[in-house]
Amino acid sequence: MQALAKDSIVAIIGSGAMGAGIAHVAATAGHQVLLFDTRLGAADTAIKGITVTFAKLVEKGRMSAADADAAGKRLISIGSLQEAKEAALVVEAIVENLDAKRALFTELESIVSQECILATNTSSISVTAIAAPLRHPQRLVGMHFFNPVPLMALVEVVKGIATSGDVADTVYATAAAWGKNPVHAKSTPGFIVNRVARPYYAEALRLLLEQAADVATLDAVMRDCGGFRMGPFELMDLIGHDINFSVTNSVYNAYFGDPRFTPSVLQQELVNAGFLGRKTGRGFYRYGEGADKPAV
Ligand code: NAI
Repeated sequence: MQALAKDSIVAIIGSGAMGAGIAHVAATAGHQVLLFDTRLGAADTAIKGITVTFAKLVEKGRMSAADADAAGKRLISIGSLQEAKEAALVVEAIVENLDAKRALFTELESIVSQECILATNTSSISVTAIAAPLRHPQRLVGMHFFNPVPLMALVEVVKGIATSGDVADTVYATAAAWGKNPVHAKSTPGFIVNRVARPYYAEALRLLLEQAADVATLDAVMRDCGGFRMGPFELMDLIGHDINFSVTNSVYNAYFGDPRFTPSVLQQELVNAGFLGRKTGRGFYRYGEGADKPAV
């Protein structure tokens, strides 16, 4: 199965951490990329951030100035979903909420062509459930990137019950053409990575609550001695506690309250406080101003 042609338009809905990363990769691969966000100015901010990253890559000699310039020009902020009507692929990276995702895709179906592939970057919501209200559920597929998108090679291509094999294969080939290592997966709770990673976070949170060791020590043990690239707390801070907590809830509920996946009250409190990690400047650690002060 062939990847999307380079001259196909890709629309990214949701211009937060993941949307911006996916836009970076798609524009670098040669597509014109439309970015949309309901938060005023978010798509423009994402584009500015991506061009700053491109400039840094040029400085480090990892991208030519001409390529950076061309890729930057391919990024376009749009003010309404209607402007995505020419897209051949829409990748959704909005809030991790089933109703919000269903509402978005239902609206998109009335805008884009019938051939347009609809992809969700959901971390943990059933792809089958997101597709259920659509007129053409066979065109909806999971295209699950990892954070930070430009650096992380894996993409899970997730088939819901109704997803067509051709759609999954096209998205797989497209992810490969974008320089990623795609893998086919089925829409089981948490798919592959978020399922096997749950105990990494859950046990670390339990250890912290049992006062076995502090955050920095637990991170250092797993990172420096355990061979993980990041410790569990710094990784949760990077992902965002709102996202990480909702993924745990979603896997827990999908397995009918299996105690192995019980969400942590401590993480719920971080979400309640708005201490979402790096993106808010505070989570298990503090970032920027006041970084030397205790975080939790
Ligand atoms: P984020 O909070 O950084 O960005 C989400 C963006 O979507 C925000 O800018 C928000 O204004 C916008 N938004 C919300 N509702 C919208 C709507 N109806 N239409 C258009 N824009 C809307 O979140 P993040 O981290 O980028 O996550 C986005 C999605 O990607 C979620 O489904 C999440 O589960 C998934 N994901 C997140 C990962 C992570 O490490 N943060 C990793 C892999 C997937």
